[in-house]
Amino acid sequence: MRKMGLFNPNAPLTADLNLLFQIFIFILLVGGIAIAKLRRKFSQHGAMMGVAATFNTVSILIVMIPSLLGFRGLLSNPLSNPALVVISHAIVGILVEILGIWLVVTWAVNRRNLKACVRRKSAMRTTVVLWGIELLLGLYTYIMLYLAI
Ligand code: HEM
Repeated sequence: MRKMGLFNPNAPLTADLNLLFQIFIFILLVGGIAIAKLRRKFSQHGAMMGVAATFNTVSILIVMIPSLLGFRGLLSNPLSNPALVVISHAIVGILVEILGIWLVVTWAVNRRNLKACVRRKSAMRTTVVLWGIELLLGLYTYIMLYLAI
């Protein structure tokens, strides 16, 4: 892939754009939590989380999966540090994806039943924590691959 990153000449443009996109999604997530906790606007909260989960799906399909498939050493040396970081990032990412889509879809099919959503509050908290871990592992992957510390 051609290297012409936005703020790092060693990174491909897709990696830099994806990094910015992930940070934007996380800001959306934090905004969605603020709307639920501070303003108690739960439908808006659900919709924002739906957008965040959709964006997450798009970036996984367009950038993460192709990048994972092209990652050298993943199968030949799966216990190396870089491979373990990338595999952990992928596993946490899959969990976030499953939880996020489940939370949004179960609400979308029966929007009037907000009580059912409230009962899933622990799952929401878990999803946010995992989402934060996924973002950190993604940042670490970027640093490891393109900043070569
Ligand atoms: C990716 C999906 C979602 C995530 C990550 C998420 C995350 C969160 C978080 C972190 C909170 C604050 C919990 C706390 O008080 O500590 C919350 C509250 C809440 N969420 Fe979600 N949420 C998601 C989807 C939804 C959906 C689809 C609905 C349905 C409308 C919903 C309804 C609520 C409600 C009603 C509360 C307030 C519960 C209460 O304080 O009694 N959430 N959510």
